[in-house]
Amino acid sequence: MTPKRRVRGAPTPPVARPPVQIDRQIPPLAHTPMYVWHKFWGRKTWNVVAEYIKTYCPEGGIVLDPFAGSGIVAMEALKAGRKAIVCDLLPIATEITRLTLKPVGLEELRKTFERVARHVKSRILELYTTSCRNCRYSFPFTCAVWQRNRCIEIRYEACPRCGDRQARACGLTRPDTALLQKIERMQVKAWYPRNRLSYPDGTPFKEKQRYESLDELFTRRNLIALAWLMEAIEEEPRRDLRDFLKVAFTSMVHLCSRMVAISNPLPTSHHTPFSSTGWTQQSYWHASSFMEQNVWEKFESAVLGHQGLLNAKAESNEHFSDVKFARSLEDVLEGRTNVYIHCGDALDMMRTTVERHGPCVDYIFTDPPYDASVQYGELAYLWIAWLRKDAGYVDRLLAKEIVRNERQQKAFDVYHALLRNAFRLMHDFHKSPTPGMALRPEEIDAARFERIVIETAKRVLAERGEETPYTILINAIDPELARNGYFSELRTGLDVRAVLESRLGQEFVLVPMRLGGVEGKAWWFRDPSSVPRLETVPLSERVEQTVLRKLQERGRVTFTDMWKAISEEFPNALTTDSTSIKDALQAYGRPVGRGEWLLKSEYNRDEIRRTHTRIIAILAEVGKAHGADVWIGRPEQGDPLSEGFPGRQGELRQYATRTALAGLENAGNIQEVENIDVLWLRGAR
Ligand SMILES: C[S@@+](CC[C@H](N)C(=O)[O-])C[C@H]1O[C@@H](n2cnc3c(N)ncnc32)[C@H](O)[C@@H]1O
Ligand SMILES: [Zn+2]
Repeated sequence: MTPKRRVRGAPTPPVARPPVQIDRQIPPLAHTPMYVWHKFWGRKTWNVVAEYIKTYCPEGGIVLDPFAGSGIVAMEALKAGRKAIVCDLLPIATEITRLTLKPVGLEELRKTFERVARHVKSRILELYTTSCRNCRYSFPFTCAVWQRNRCIEIRYEACPRCGDRQARACGLTRPDTALLQKIERMQVKAWYPRNRLSYPDGTPFKEKQRYESLDELFTRRNLIALAWLMEAIEEEPRRDLRDFLKVAFTSMVHLCSRMVAISNPLPTSHHTPFSSTGWTQQSYWHASSFMEQNVWEKFESAVLGHQGLLNAKAESNEHFSDVKFARSLEDVLEGRTNVYIHCGDALDMMRTTVERHGPCVDYIFTDPPYDASVQYGELAYLWIAWLRKDAGYVDRLLAKEIVRNERQQKAFDVYHALLRNAFRLMHDFHKSPTPGMALRPEEIDAARFERIVIETAKRVLAERGEETPYTILINAIDPELARNGYFSELRTGLDVRAVLESRLGQEFVLVPMRLGGVEGKAWWFRDPSSVPRLETVPLSERVEQTVLRKLQERGRVTFTDMWKAISEEFPNALTTDSTSIKDALQAYGRPVGRGEWLLKSEYNRDEIRRTHTRIIAILAEVGKAHGADVWIGRPEQGDPLSEGFPGRQGELRQYATRTALAGLENAGNIQEVENIDVLWLRGAR
């Protein structure tokens, strides 16, 4: 007997295999400062990218990422001794990549920061002056709370003189209000961007909301502070150091905008009354209540803070000491340098390169823009404008950005055609495409395509032995199609979902299922009994048993350990989502401290054996009392009774009134019946 449900058959044992294919999920590891010093949307997890590059790109080989974003692929390629060609349309993306890779003297960088501090720090901090509510001492506050266009609260962490702290409901004093009025009337000579959040013909950005232009995203106070700060950075004579500080500036400028909501400090969150939630909405949204952060303090923490520039560079200097930036892509192809960063359109770049050089990279890892989910181009405008890299920028988005965005007159078809083109070019770019990747006539295609989809879906369902959500099916079907030279859709528009849906009521049915707390539908066989090689123990139970076994083996595990163990044991079609691992951990473990789980004592192995023995003994006695013959399962016959009832003598076999089961009616496989824990028998039944 095992806890919860009874499972026949042991979980599939781990299979040792050479690390030539990645056939399992790779649990994400935490990001360190060099991966997060600058915000970027949709960052990929570094260790997953690293694993793929190390597995699929030969040492010294070239990796291509045409949609590189913040440059994770370039970073991991160089760390692993590979070379990289990366491209992104957005100058902020390539700038983050370049500055992450570029070694810099930490002392020089710190001195540059200190020089800027000497120029503007006190001038900026004056804009935030308040007086201690307890002792009247005057000093700069940490942040203010605004409701629409009114500043309603001042918050500070500690008065430097008396330590007074104001974290809630601290209204403005008369001098606070006077300071605000003075700021409103101030003439600002320093430059700041006023770009409109719209396309040249006046069509507003998709992600524009209330604010018309970039300057409206800030309170007057923060706009002035930011303008002075940028002016001081611009005065730095050395271009390389200046560039670092400018991008440290963009790493925090959004945190100084009106787009940061007031965070709710709960015991379970890391928020404080002084932190903000950050720019979490993927739009130029407006919060009716927002936090006005102290610009100098934000800049200081962007440079000196835990996840700030200096820590990021201390880390990246170690990894990229041998980086050699290429002036042209050929520098990398011909082995003179190890990274080429291209700011521009991926299609143009790939087309010209393929024309000139033919297939020339060993591996492609890319994370292309996904439909309309993130408007990278529009959202980066805030940073691009502050960096003064906005000349021609919006026109370039219109002409080149691959995204679905009606305001750019790019409906889904346009997005799709551009992306499809990108995939074709990637295919031509790659040195050794999978044999059979050539495209075939449509008619042969449709039949083959359908067969691959149906067969893969059946195999996956049979291996999992349980109702399965569409996302898991598609994750198995897509690579299978790719191996056979197909995209997940034919040019005729026939796609995976359409094929599967055409078989509903035939091979498949849809059944209701809760997926991560939401009602959804899952795919299953219409008639499971007709399926050959259908796994009899549902995957979720196998996973659950494995979680229990690992907990019993190790006593204490972290969630990541467990995820890793499960991913290795259940590869390919058996991919498990993290919720089912969490559920099993919750059932068999109890959380202790930071993300660790300890085996619950009732699931300790000895305890399970004790309960098991006790229950068998009780059932045997009940059966006997009712005049039935009793059979004790073969594996249990030798278990000492004292396990279940301390003090009692002998083994469980003493309850058995039969010694063999031969001759039993209706028993197909007598050996399996003999393994059942307890049986009550009357005659031959
Ligand atoms: C999903 S993001 C990549 C994020 C990246 N994997 C990371 O970890 O930071 C897709 C990227 O494609 C870029 N992009 C969109 N259209 C492009 C084009 N025509 N040429 C090059 N890059 C483009 C976007 O700017 C965006 O940075
Ligand atoms: Zn005080």
